[in-house]
Amino acid sequence: MVYTEIKYPKLVNDKGSLTEVEKQILGNFIVLSGGNVLLELGLYKAVTTKFICHFLEINMIEGKLYAFDIPDVVESVSNDPEIRDFIHKGILELVPGWLPHSLSNWIENHPGVPIDFVLDDALHDYPSVYGELKLIWPRLAKSGFVLCHDYAGKFPGVVYAVNKFTNRYNACMVPMLSSPKTQAAGMGSVLVALRKREFSGKLSSMISNEYYLWRLLLAKTWLWKKVLRPMVR
Ligand SMILES: C[S@@+](CC[C@H](N)C(=O)[O-])C[C@H]1O[C@@H](n2cnc3c(N)ncnc32)[C@H](O)[C@@H]1O
Repeated sequence: MVYTEIKYPKLVNDKGSLTEVEKQILGNFIVLSGGNVLLELGLYKAVTTKFICHFLEINMIEGKLYAFDIPDVVESVSNDPEIRDFIHKGILELVPGWLPHSLSNWIENHPGVPIDFVLDDALHDYPSVYGELKLIWPRLAKSGFVLCHDYAGKFPGVVYAVNKFTNRYNACMVPMLSSPKTQAAGMGSVLVALRKREFSGKLSSMISNEYYLWRLLLAKTWLWKKVLRPMVR
């Protein structure tokens, strides 16, 4: 993939779907992740699903989106001509079933396949979000991202699950909450991005860096200036 200018399909708002701003953010994270294997947990009317597929196409990203939802929802979108076209082109696969079982089945059926990008937007409660994150994490690519939707006070289960998961798994977390100002401007984004830590906290790194700081602090003290320094001169 060549990173030139990122192109966006038409950004649309629809009830129950990500906002235009959130879709744009999604696009940036797809590019950052490399976007090979993508999962959308909760597709609903497939508005974001179509956005992602169009995004992959127009930016010539050779990725495939696996979109999960309950069987009724999957059935209702599977006759949509646009969806059928994406399936036919191999850009999209619909995964019917109840999460988290459908996700653990998918993981089992795709052994060793790293996941580059996940939009977690299905059931907004603590056990579901936490359970999905736990399933995804071991398979998340080093440069991969998980974006959880509705990380906001209105969904305390999502907030609790993401915070607890971040602490327990030492994950990097960037909440993209809207300020009152951006909210008033119609850009109420409530996505949160998770990724694996680039540099793990090695003991040797901690010791050498802490030692360096303590040396600097010690050099400013009366003890060093008046007692220790004259002794080592
Ligand atoms: C908020 S909507 C998804 C919106 C979509 N991501 C978008 O941006 O257009 C949530 C979807 O999650 C699905 N869902 C909720 N609980 C689920 C479960 N346990 N298993 C599978 N799908 C579930 C619902 O059927 C619904 O379609």
